[in-house]
Amino acid sequence: MGSIVVAVDGTSGSGKSSTCRGVADRLGLRYLDTGAMYRAMTWWMLQHGVDVHDTEAVAAYAEKPTLVSGTDPLAPTISVDGADVSVEIRSDEVNAAVSPVSTVPAVRERLVTLQREIIGEGGIVVEGRDIGSVVWPDAELKVYLTADPAARATRRALESGSTDAERIAATEASLLNRDRIDSGRAVAPLTMADGAVHVDSTDLTLDEVIDLVAGLVAERV
Ligand code: C5P
Repeated sequence: MGSIVVAVDGTSGSGKSSTCRGVADRLGLRYLDTGAMYRAMTWWMLQHGVDVHDTEAVAAYAEKPTLVSGTDPLAPTISVDGADVSVEIRSDEVNAAVSPVSTVPAVRERLVTLQREIIGEGGIVVEGRDIGSVVWPDAELKVYLTADPAARATRRALESGSTDAERIAATEASLLNRDRIDSGRAVAPLTMADGAVHVDSTDLTLDEVIDLVAGLVAERV
């Protein structure tokens, strides 16, 4: 178990974070949220007035922010230039800008290098879009986690304390827009990696998904 790498990729809002944190906690592994790193980079660009749709401008600043990811599954953190931005990176502004920023090759190169350094220390559950396909293709277990868009939007809205139909519809549109950009980009698009196990969480509870993934890990150690 000590050095195992578990790669969990999938669509936006499919339950990757909750699943990965639950699995890592249960198995005594570390946890890395690579989406938080793309979000932190995006937050920094917005803070510094960089036009997130200007690929050259984003690329020019990709090396600037200092990013530090905490890997405790019970209290994951992300800091930018020494400030914890775990809350700020979940804003609607970051949601809207993160996929365009993530298409920029210089951003991906920088973050993939950081991710490989952290993963290389071993014993970790990593969530993202390209972990099994690009970042760590030798992962002992690769999972591709999806769920029906309506289920994803409802869960997300409930997490933010809302059952408002308009909010749910707006959340679904935002998730689908990110999926569209993430799946269609030229570099490291969201895709099911070779050898990945597809898990559809639409009709499963969180505990059932955690049981299922933890069981798949147990088969591989
Ligand atoms: O996982 P989360 O929804 O927080 O990710 C936010 C965005 O970061 C994704 O929509 C995607 O654009 C980008 N991302 C990525 N590659 C990863 C993880 C996230 O491009 N490995």
